[in-house]
Amino acid sequence: MRVLGIESSCDETAAAVVDDGRRVLSSAVDSQIARHRPYGGVVPEIASRGHVESFPRVVREAMDRAGVPWESLDAVAVTTGPGLASSLIVGTAGARALGQALGKPVWSVNHIEAHIAAVFLDPEMPPPDEATDMLILMVSGGHTCLFRMRGIGRYQLLGTTLDDAAGECLDKGSKMLGLGYPGGPAIEKAAAGGNRKFAEFPRGMEHAKEERSPEGLDMGMCFSFSGLKTALLYRLKNHPEEKETHLADLAASYEEAVVSSLARRVERAVEATGAKKLLCAGGVAKNASLRARLAAMGERHGFTVRLAPMAYCTDNAAMVAAAAGLRALAGIGNPPAGEIDPTRELERTAFA
Ligand code: KG4
Ligand code: ZN
Repeated sequence: MRVLGIESSCDETAAAVVDDGRRVLSSAVDSQIARHRPYGGVVPEIASRGHVESFPRVVREAMDRAGVPWESLDAVAVTTGPGLASSLIVGTAGARALGQALGKPVWSVNHIEAHIAAVFLDPEMPPPDEATDMLILMVSGGHTCLFRMRGIGRYQLLGTTLDDAAGECLDKGSKMLGLGYPGGPAIEKAAAGGNRKFAEFPRGMEHAKEERSPEGLDMGMCFSFSGLKTALLYRLKNHPEEKETHLADLAASYEEAVVSSLARRVERAVEATGAKKLLCAGGVAKNASLRARLAAMGERHGFTVRLAPMAYCTDNAAMVAAAAGLRALAGIGNPPAGEIDPTRELERTAFA
């Protein structure tokens, strides 16, 4: 099962060739970070134009590096959502044109499922099977969710953010601290050596254990980051000098608030479900403090922690081809890529 994956949901144009949903033959990623940096965030119009420019080159690069003939592909798989409409449309149109020219099927992939599939690109990771109950912390710039998973394509949503995503919170905090874009790595770098207890930032949803969200989720497994962002804003208003005198301390305290807020929800989800395996994926999963915190928690509570390989945490196309390949091999299949769906949710399964 050889799949050419295509990803263009945000500001990365990416293409990759993956065999059987697990073996990466090539992964080309063209990041537009430099173009968006002056604006402190992704500008959809610029991202869309960037995809149009990069698409042919990135696809060719992936095929050249894989060193396999076009005819050997079984399918093309593309992210059709969730993401920025003007970005998704470029990759999806490009993938459909490729499929037409090659006479191959073009499959639609959910971006969230692709992030989850990235964990299975670790060769040490056992394949997804229905007998293993797993928890997934999916943390990126656009999403912060806790899922329970039983095999590929079978997910139960346990918790989600009620406002900002964790990555978005880091990006906005970084902007306020004058640390630049993307904020996650900038804050992580600035936080090195800083006092993580310098500022007492809120952790969000602290007292909501017994409540239910509007869609019936246990609030104790839901996230909230807007209060943290506001707390930093007011702190900088009241103590503008700290940006100069205590930059590392502020960055460290802010990062700590995000990490411990994520870790607490995971702990509660582990207690509630009794899951013995935790997977973590998405751009924020690159964060060293988060990786260390989850690993330590796993040791303390006796569950295994599997993190997406560093190269496949932020947006890439290997994870897209992986998701499609895993679904095809599991016999679930992939829907054909038609219209884009910018607000697409991960399909949900009711678990006993
Ligand atoms: O998964 P991703 O590439 O895109 C989305 O689907 O959103 O994630 C991007 C997010 C950004 O918010 C970025 O700041 C964050 O991942 N990020 C990090 C790190 N590297 C990227 N956050 C914390 N620590 C990092 N090292
Ligand atoms: Zn993503």
